[in-house]
Amino acid sequence: MGLVSLRRPKHAPAAPASESPPQEEHEESALSEPPAESFAPHTQLFSEKPKPLPVMLTTPIEGPAPSTKEKISLLAQMNRDEVSQCKKCRLCQTRTNTVFGEGDPDAKVFFIGEGPGETEDETGRPFVGKAGNLLNKMIAGMGLAREQVFIGNVVKCRPPGNRQPGPDEVAACTPYLVRQLETIRPRVIVTLGLPASKYMLNSNETMGRMRGIWHEWRGIKLMPTYHPAYLLRSYTEENRAAVWSDLKKVMTELGLTVPKK
Ligand code: URA
Ligand code: SF4
Repeated sequence: MGLVSLRRPKHAPAAPASESPPQEEHEESALSEPPAESFAPHTQLFSEKPKPLPVMLTTPIEGPAPSTKEKISLLAQMNRDEVSQCKKCRLCQTRTNTVFGEGDPDAKVFFIGEGPGETEDETGRPFVGKAGNLLNKMIAGMGLAREQVFIGNVVKCRPPGNRQPGPDEVAACTPYLVRQLETIRPRVIVTLGLPASKYMLNSNETMGRMRGIWHEWRGIKLMPTYHPAYLLRSYTEENRAAVWSDLKKVMTELGLTVPKK
């Protein structure tokens, strides 16, 4: 089981890490929405047709998983021949480095963030700024090493000013993420924050509603939780407890020992 470092930085890391966090992902809309119970439930029964799930969400990944060796080569090839040279969206014009993602090709857990920030753009590596430090702590709290998981993003190039990636950018870039997931075949996906959770679940729900419960993406269990950058901005007891509770569910699913405290 080898760790692959899948990056091609154009130059070495510059000065100290400075990361402005991505856009807001508050639960405000969850709070401003009236609770479902305030509508007459019987009228919903007749007026709301169940929405068909998109094919991509429900169709399990086909065929046997590649071997470790094949995974390493597929991922390296995708990075070398495609992502590192990609011009499929306008983010290619402002990036310094593409950020493919990194970790164990046989990872049991695949974390999905939003997109590279300043430090990630400078280094070509995912989650190496302040949010990355907190993600490292979250991973360590689960009893894992960063090298044992895989860390990727919805978009591989930094959105200028750390704005959220636009729908066209997400649409252009996510085929890479899908192929990373199809190659690695983790047991569990953890989506960090709203853009990753919304994309993976094809949902318009708020983080507050999506997090903490198991979802599924093409036969793989998926747990949404708050983005570490959001946690840093809203470092409350409640938010930290929520993330820890979500991570404990992931640990239980993976058969990892959950500490009492
Ligand atoms: N935030 C993200 O969503 N991804 C990174 O890689 C770094 C910060
Ligand atoms: Fe290509 Fe994705 Fe970068 Fe856009 S964000 S240029 S699709 S790698």
